Amino acid sequence: MLLETVGLDLGSSPTEQAKLEIGKGPPLRVVELYAGAGGMSLGLQRAGFEVVRAYDHMQSAVDIYNRNVGYHAVVADLGNVASIAPEIAKLKPDMIAGGPPCQDFSPAGARIEGERANHTRTFALYVCSTAPEWFMMENVQRARNSAAWADARDMLKNAGYGLTQLVVNAALYGVPQKRKRLIVVGRLGERDGFLLASIQQAATPEPMPLRAVFGNLFGDHVYSHPRALDRRGVWSVDEPSPTIRNARRPQPATYAPHRNDSNYSEVSGLYFRPFHDARGVYTLDEPAPSIVRTSRERPRSSYIDNPHPDDPTPAATAYILTQNDTSRIQGFPADWDWSGCLSRDVDQMIANAVPAPMAAMLGKEILRRERGESQPDVPGNFGQWLTKEKRMPSQMVANAKWRVKRARQLLGGRDLRCLGAEAYALETAFEREGLAKAKRSEIRRALRQFREWQEHLQAGI
Ligand SMILES: C[S@@+](CC[C@H](N)C(=O)[O-])C[C@H]1O[C@@H](n2cnc3c(N)ncnc32)[C@H](O)[C@@H]1O
Repeated sequence: MLLETVGLDLGSSPTEQAKLEIGKGPPLRVVELYAGAGGMSLGLQRAGFEVVRAYDHMQSAVDIYNRNVGYHAVVADLGNVASIAPEIAKLKPDMIAGGPPCQDFSPAGARIEGERANHTRTFALYVCSTAPEWFMMENVQRARNSAAWADARDMLKNAGYGLTQLVVNAALYGVPQKRKRLIVVGRLGERDGFLLASIQQAATPEPMPLRAVFGNLFGDHVYSHPRALDRRGVWSVDEPSPTIRNARRPQPATYAPHRNDSNYSEVSGLYFRPFHDARGVYTLDEPAPSIVRTSRERPRSSYIDNPHPDDPTPAATAYILTQNDTSRIQGFPADWDWSGCLSRDVDQMIANAVPAPMAAMLGKEILRRERGESQPDVPGNFGQWLTKEKRMPSQMVANAKWRVKRARQLLGGRDLRCLGAEAYALETAFEREGLAKAKRSEIRRALRQFREWQEHLQAGI
């Protein structure tokens, strides 16, 4: 099924219109900027994108990326827009993705906008000079209200992008971590908010608990009675058992957990080094706090002496995370190869990453919309407005809502900002489907009413 769309905002003629194949087609090609070790690229690949190039200025991140994701990352200072933008434009990507540096916005860093915040503007410059159909940007929540994002947003809007901007909690997108991040998805010619409902509906009803990662890491456990008080007694079934002597004794109720027990994290809580006065100890039945470079540091005596009142178990006996643990909590696969880098740099790359499961879920929603497999929402208050303002009986309201949904299917999920482009695309779809005249005018009328309602909303009436 083919849908012809008109990019009127870009001044393209109908004959130059992109032909979008609904339901299938070649993978969308993406260029990632500020790619780090590759968390976001991994997720986008899993969703079905083809990553054609990735940029980062850190050699070690590029090495890790290339070894694990594929050899398309290059070392480059993205501040050199004049030399890199033409290179990206030649690649003709369908999407530019990236998480520009966030330290200047981050609650963990200085709160003054500096050089690094400028990269949010630079990201917008790359998008505007390449004009891909889509872009996706990730940043810390704080970036929402920054001067850098206000400038970037203006540039992107002027270039014809409709924006879907929201804060997502990674714990609802396949990651056992309460990591709240600003996500902005842009598409040429769309209305703002065009993908909002689809992304929100992709969220899981419950946050993912740490057990989702640690349950698999540690598996089942057996008790083997220790020969001395300072030896451990609990062993994972996935490791070699201790030498069997007189081990067949039940675990005594008085057994005190040993730090090397394979189920130690389960019985003792996990310690994540907190900021300021936040909580440090978490159970496996909740998501982790946002992973930062220092998350796996041991509790200091100041914390042990002054613990958070909500700690489920004492910090002094809590499980201390390994680098492998933080890597897994950030969504990297168990066999991800971090070798050859300074441990401190690896901690930073892990903390920087967009967790791959979250990137994959976002990527899937973009692809579903690109293929016409999802449509923008028809909000319930449209129906209320029809009842109140147009005095429509309930059956007519239901019909009108259904017809708007049908229009959106016919438009392949597009939410075109330009009314002329939308009308043209709709007439093309009517022809393609061979719809009867009466049906066409019902759908046209319902869509007109919907747009009227949207204008009322925008005008604040
Ligand atoms: C928030 S991290 C991105 C993480 C990445 N999206 C991921 O999922 O792993 C920001 C990245 O920007 C890179 N960076 C900072 N300044 C840069 C510059 N001038 N040119 C290129 N990369 C830069 C850093 O090395 C860091 O890897």
